[in-house]
Amino acid sequence: MCGIIGYVGRRTNAGVLVVEGLKRLEYRGYDSWGVACKTTDGIAIRKDIGKISAVDSLDFLKQSSLAMAHTRWATHGGVTQENAHPHVSCDGKIVVVLNGIIENYEALREELKTKGHTFVSTTDTEVIPHLIEEEMKTESDFAAAVRRACLRFEGRYGIVAMHADSPLLVAARTGSPLIVGVADDGYFIASDTPAFQDSTTTVQYLDDGEMVVTDGGSILFSDLQTGQERLKREIQITVSTVESQKGEYEHYMLKEIMEQKESIARAVNQDVDQIETLARAILEAQGTFLVGCGTAAKACMAAEYFFSVIAGHHVNFAPASEFKLYHRFLKPQSLLIAVSQSGETADTLEAMKIAKGKGAKVLAIVNAAGSTIAREADFTLHINAGPERAVASTKALTGQMAVLLLIAYAMIGKLPKGRTRLLETAAAINDMLNPRYTEFIEGIAEHIQESSDLYIIGKGWNYPMALESAIKIQEVSYVHAEGFAGGELKHGPIALIEKGTPCIALVGNDEVRTDIISNAIELKARGGFIIGISPVRHEVFDEWIKVPDVDTAQAIVNIIPVQVLAYFLAVKRGKDPDMPRNLAKSVTVK
Ligand code: AGP
Repeated sequence: MCGIIGYVGRRTNAGVLVVEGLKRLEYRGYDSWGVACKTTDGIAIRKDIGKISAVDSLDFLKQSSLAMAHTRWATHGGVTQENAHPHVSCDGKIVVVLNGIIENYEALREELKTKGHTFVSTTDTEVIPHLIEEEMKTESDFAAAVRRACLRFEGRYGIVAMHADSPLLVAARTGSPLIVGVADDGYFIASDTPAFQDSTTTVQYLDDGEMVVTDGGSILFSDLQTGQERLKREIQITVSTVESQKGEYEHYMLKEIMEQKESIARAVNQDVDQIETLARAILEAQGTFLVGCGTAAKACMAAEYFFSVIAGHHVNFAPASEFKLYHRFLKPQSLLIAVSQSGETADTLEAMKIAKGKGAKVLAIVNAAGSTIAREADFTLHINAGPERAVASTKALTGQMAVLLLIAYAMIGKLPKGRTRLLETAAAINDMLNPRYTEFIEGIAEHIQESSDLYIIGKGWNYPMALESAIKIQEVSYVHAEGFAGGELKHGPIALIEKGTPCIALVGNDEVRTDIISNAIELKARGGFIIGISPVRHEVFDEWIKVPDVDTAQAIVNIIPVQVLAYFLAVKRGKDPDMPRNLAKSVTVK
């Protein structure tokens, strides 16, 4: 959600460094930004609503060796300049940025007001510099005062703070990611590694309940509660600059859709022993629960079908945000499978905490290596999709589904068959995603771009893909879209269909084909304009988007044309598909 980057060290262009870093975090989605630089005259702050990339000159950044910057995704308080971070104490000397939520901010705010503090914003964040200021009345050491303040906060947060009279950059974390970048000439502290990847690929992870203090020359990690030092390993991360750039594409979203030609094959390339061990763990578990949010949740739903149809094994799916209510069913012998692209989603992490609290084991299927979910799970499988920058998740979804499908085959001792099926699917997608194909879908987007509503139906594993189709279309094109199980239409939604309403039918060449075609016929009879995504043509389709016939992997290929359609709908409607309004790439608040 919010992006954070701080730097302290020998370089004197700290302001430029953090603003450049902030621009590399833009993909996360935000509504306002701010930067603070420590100069010889105190701390200079600039903040505003809108995009940092729209600021044409960085001349306002003075020479500085200690600076931090922030992109805000509003939670508490509207999108205003006052609410943008950084926030400052009454004396203007303590400056703080936050990612997350201080849940008890109202009580703290009232308490601080009675002690004479004045507030200029409506955010939860503003209590932080004021509370540190209050603590400094009895604790002159800045870092110690930050610790004391943190001990009073409730919620999940990552904060970075600095003081006009101190050379230190201080950060603390409970719940929202913060990573230290170790450079030759100083240290970065950021919410995500792209922020400093041009300067260093050596990182140290701050864990929950820890704080870190650095003056740019040395660094000290400690336990937030006890103050005891924590030793940290330096870890090398791999960054492919090619993968992190748009290359020939106008938008990351299209680039990432096209990358599915290779990313699915990479997802399948898993350690055989590990997959077989995990498949056994699912079979032996007393209850397996799949959780994720948004698109990742749709991968989990699809896996319910994979495990049922391929392995004949029942698993339970819940959106991670609903998992709290499932705790009654958890035992130490249960297994939670947490699926996430970013590995930082707050609700998914919360579900993991609930499962672990009951002694259950957690398997994570993630894209972002080194993420909190990847580090906190008992076992982790990486889908190796490469960085996904567009807010709309595309290649991560198909990578997650590929890994889950592979596990389903391993559960019946047919891992090689699953591998072959998926590699054939990857090859078929490679053939499918050619320029003629995407141009054809662009033409359909052109035809329906003025429609205000769009409905998508599917059955079996194409049902979660219908739900996912709706998410893709909603989030980038802002067209009202809804996905349904085809059989549910006549129980209500069919009342919405009028002459010309675009309806997408996701069809496989499988046992439920006849049913879903019947549902498409029902839609057509009410005037629906039917776009069929199917390996086989049918006369009910007004437009037919052909997909390869890939048997159990059909859901993986069927979603791809919808991703392309959503992309072109966004572009044709003049929207930026990479940075949809109101959305963040990584949702680190509950
Ligand atoms: C995807 O298009 C969405 N932007 C969103 O639903 C996303 O899938 C969800 O927030 C989960 O994120 P994660 O995979 O990083 O956990």
